[in-house]
Amino acid sequence: TELIPLLSRAPKAELHIHIEGSLEPELIFALAQRNGVALPYADVEALRAAYAFTDLQSFLDIYYAGASVLLQEDDFHDMAWAYFLKAQADHVVHAELFFDPQTHTARGVDTGVVIRGLKRACDRAQAELGISSALILCFLRHLSEDEALATLEAALPWREHFIGVGLDSSERGHPPEKFARVFARAAELGLHRVAHAGEEGPPAYVESALDVLKVERIDHGVRSVESPALIERLAREGVPLTVCPLSNIKLCVFRHMAYHSMPALLALGCKPTVNSDDPAYFGGYLNDNFVALFEALPQLGAREAYALLRNSFEASFVPAERKGAWM
Ligand code: HPA
Ligand code: ZN
Repeated sequence: TELIPLLSRAPKAELHIHIEGSLEPELIFALAQRNGVALPYADVEALRAAYAFTDLQSFLDIYYAGASVLLQEDDFHDMAWAYFLKAQADHVVHAELFFDPQTHTARGVDTGVVIRGLKRACDRAQAELGISSALILCFLRHLSEDEALATLEAALPWREHFIGVGLDSSERGHPPEKFARVFARAAELGLHRVAHAGEEGPPAYVESALDVLKVERIDHGVRSVESPALIERLAREGVPLTVCPLSNIKLCVFRHMAYHSMPALLALGCKPTVNSDDPAYFGGYLNDNFVALFEALPQLGAREAYALLRNSFEASFVPAERKGAWM
């Protein structure tokens, strides 16, 4: 449609991007060589050929393998800088980046190495590209809450470098309430709180993320449409949902983009946004997600495009006075 070029050029905020999921196969191989890390794939093509996912776990196994090449502060900087160049091309003016310290500390990489490398790229993106950004520390939900608590404490020397905490990795069997104490601790520290819920997990996980973890946004949340009572609540409370269309198709959450719940979420008064999740693995960056969504769903028009763009700024954790410049 004629909307696509307008959408592509419009300024936008990205609120759901795992920075380790922006690691392209070419950079994985370059970092493997730089760091002397052996990879179980012969070359870039063989690695990319493995990107045929059947569900969340089949993706996570490869995503954690790809992250194994990240060892030095410069590696984290280079990865995030490559993302910011893609973001600039998509007219992203603000990005809130997830990172998974436990993926790296498990290999002996210090939390400070991760945070300092990412922060350097964030500062450079502001200075050289005019893109503002912030970091959100995510806990791996397949690990224990005690490990999450230790991860948060280990990051506190860099408290000023991240604005919030999130919850990601394998959703089924790991309900939000497993992390009640660590999210309460994060709240005490003045950190923002978000959680993945209702991606593969049931609507009940969205409810417990809100009720027990007191999150301010739900990451994904696309299965909320299965519960009319939950949808009514999300709409009434104005809870933002950071939806990732290409991710949902690649991980088989929906059979085809034509069956995505985005039109229902918008029509029912919820506050969804569009995001790329793990763009190097799912076939596209932010604008690719907008294009795939709008091309597959003719019921989405200019009104919906405007709502999605405005929601991305409204739902960001930028101070209200700065949001005014965008909205
Ligand atoms: N879901 C859960 N964990 C993740 C994802 C996701 O989409 N991407 C990276 N870690
Ligand atoms: Zn995600």
